[in-house]
Amino acid sequence: MRIPLEEAAARLLAGDVVAVPTETVYGLAGSLSNSEAIRDIFRIKGRPANNPLIIHISHLDQLKPFGCQTDLSFFKLAAAFWPGPLTLVLPIEPKTILDSVRAGLQTAAFRMPEHPIALELIEKTGPLVMPSANLSGRPSSTSPDHVEADFGRNFPVLDGGTSACGVESTVMVLREKRWIVIRQGILVPEDFETVLGYIPEIDLGKKDSPICPGQLYRHYAPKCKLVLAKKFGPGIVLGYRDREYPQNEVMYLGSLRSPETIAESLYSTLRKLDEQGIEEAYVDMNFEEIGLMKTIGERLRKAAAH
Ligand code: TXA
Ligand code: MG
Repeated sequence: MRIPLEEAAARLLAGDVVAVPTETVYGLAGSLSNSEAIRDIFRIKGRPANNPLIIHISHLDQLKPFGCQTDLSFFKLAAAFWPGPLTLVLPIEPKTILDSVRAGLQTAAFRMPEHPIALELIEKTGPLVMPSANLSGRPSSTSPDHVEADFGRNFPVLDGGTSACGVESTVMVLREKRWIVIRQGILVPEDFETVLGYIPEIDLGKKDSPICPGQLYRHYAPKCKLVLAKKFGPGIVLGYRDREYPQNEVMYLGSLRSPETIAESLYSTLRKLDEQGIEEAYVDMNFEEIGLMKTIGERLRKAAAH
């Protein structure tokens, strides 16, 4: 159910949960200070309680109450990339943020989204927590239709069109004076070199003890079985427009020459498999995992891991 911005703001201030557009994916928003809204977000998504939420802000002053421990590099990153698809994890004064938001950690994750509707909304409501607006484990939502497919036609959605990036924000944390990437995303490590003077390392932690708790869980997966492959038997292939598949029926993910097109349509293509009742599909993995294709490779492996 599409609702206007004024109604979304009023509902959020009253403690409701509303789906909100961002440039990466749609978020399932609730007011940061409302414990019932937070509880409802975890319940509606079926999200494990030990997976903390990202706090979305519309200007830097909103960070003041949390006693964030920052240094100059944080301000450089914020100046260069906010608003934008970058989430920064900071040590905070724990009692200033509900335990349920940060899953009991002494840190919290912050992001300023680059979507005019999201920013206008947060100006009216104050900081909002927003996990991706999908049932836990399923592909994220990049349109209001996806949100309604997961949560029902009556679920309130603020319509901001299709998400431009299509894949989630990059999450970084400061460790011993160097930022490290703990969730790959739309921004790739090389994007930070000019601002930081180095390329942050990617450290996803160990399989059973990731640094970013969300990495523990099954993710992005359609019901359709995905077979990641470099050669294909008969059947459907998720492939690329700049390649030919004479033996197969193809669903195009985008063009390898422009990985942004692949990111943009990734989740909607995974959702389309289920909408069309397709039970099994190959995914063409003949690509070099560099830049954004490294993030996409990671998402595809997670989506295929049943
Ligand atoms: O692009 C995005 O980031 C989207 C849009 C809606 O902003 N949001 C999103 O939220 O992807 P979610 O909840 O699906 O993923 C948040 C990730 C999880 O993997 C979570 O574990 C991690 O951020 N995270 C949150 N707080 C953290 C913290 N204090 N330390 C480490 N990781 C944290
Ligand atoms: Mg998510």
